[in-house]
Amino acid sequence: MFNSYFIKRLVLTNYRSYEKLRIDTSVAKNIIITGDNGAGKTNILEAISMLSQAGPFRKAKLAQLGKTECSTPVFTISSQIQSDDETVNLGLSYNYADKQNLSEDDEVIEKRQIVANEENITVSDLQNYIKIIWITPFMDRLFSEATGERRKFLDNLISNFYPFYGVALNQYSNLLKQRAKILKSKKIDEKWLDAIEENIVEKGVSIAALRIEFEEKLNNILKNLDNAFPKIQIHIDGVIEEKLKIMKSVDVEDFYKKSLLDNREMFKFTFSPPVEGVHRSDFSAMNLDKNITADQTSTGEQKLAVISIILAYANMLYLYFNKYPLVLIDEAPAHLDEFKTKELFEELEKIPTQVWMTGILKSDFKFFEDKSSLFIEIENSQIK
Ligand SMILES: Nc1ncnc2c1ncn2[C@@H]1O[C@H](COP(=O)(O)OP(=O)(O)OP(=O)(O)O)[C@@H](O)[C@H]1O
Ligand SMILES: [Mg+2]
Repeated sequence: MFNSYFIKRLVLTNYRSYEKLRIDTSVAKNIIITGDNGAGKTNILEAISMLSQAGPFRKAKLAQLGKTECSTPVFTISSQIQSDDETVNLGLSYNYADKQNLSEDDEVIEKRQIVANEENITVSDLQNYIKIIWITPFMDRLFSEATGERRKFLDNLISNFYPFYGVALNQYSNLLKQRAKILKSKKIDEKWLDAIEENIVEKGVSIAALRIEFEEKLNNILKNLDNAFPKIQIHIDGVIEEKLKIMKSVDVEDFYKKSLLDNREMFKFTFSPPVEGVHRSDFSAMNLDKNITADQTSTGEQKLAVISIILAYANMLYLYFNKYPLVLIDEAPAHLDEFKTKELFEELEKIPTQVWMTGILKSDFKFFEDKSSLFIEIENSQIK
């Protein structure tokens, strides 16, 4: 019985630096990928992240993921996933011929093809088949980076928790785009705009409500977590979320509607004035051990804060869904001292799910040698 997710097999074709890569894991618990800079380690984890709605975990357009100088410009990621007593064949492909110049919006329309057990599914269906969380080197500065990436991190956690959250977010962002298009057009259809704004408000308030609920649930788990990582408390910073905590939802809806209306007026004088809403929310974290916000802590400490959140989140998914998520950690030992690295490995070993990790040196992962582990050494995008 697997109350978590194990990738049994992963096959990449024309993905990034790989023309072909096949990994059979024999459901090992820890997959440790090592190799020099540029060997192709992150590319493997990134390919796995594509099996989640929030993937790829590095900012890239879909066409950039396809191998350059390739005679068949189609990349595929196929996997066999074991969860509970089921095996699912989950695959994704994208034809990137002549797509290098597509904008991100056009790529959304373009769509990747996703298949689960030979049936076509959508990106938001993915979390029914596998839930994936990750820690990447980028997150070492998660709390001092720009808002957008932090929001993406949080949204990924929430959409794996509430199945309809990701769908609502997509709908919300499409509505915002439609609204901007109408406002930029010469003839504005006011009725149509009213309907869209009504919808934006409805979706926005439900997104904010889910974020608040999530914040409370995660903070409860964080509070009770007993490990060597910092005690963290997250806080969602957003105008709509703040109001929803103290006002009735009908009043928040009125406020939201009014700010959209005011913004319509501003459109007459300015090109694309920023519009308030849940798409601009952010989150911050308090390091309770030091009593300072996480953005004021060191690079290593920010990574430790992210680890605290990810460990709490894994426990939260188990508590509510009886399932731990698959975990990806790119450059696992980076920025961590010897003690913290060992603590991280011990905590990961306690979670009965598959963990894929990368690092430069195999010797940094000695801890896993006598455990259920598969060590893969990569050189020039080939398994050594
Ligand atoms: N679309 C692409 N086609 C071909 N090669 C690509 C493509 N995108 C990236 N690469 C190459 O993939 C190689 C491996 O990248 P990757 O990020 O996986 O390295 P890494 O092993 O994680 O290195 P590091 O230790 O520095 O993080 C890079 O040399 C990069 O140039
Ligand atoms: Mg890398």
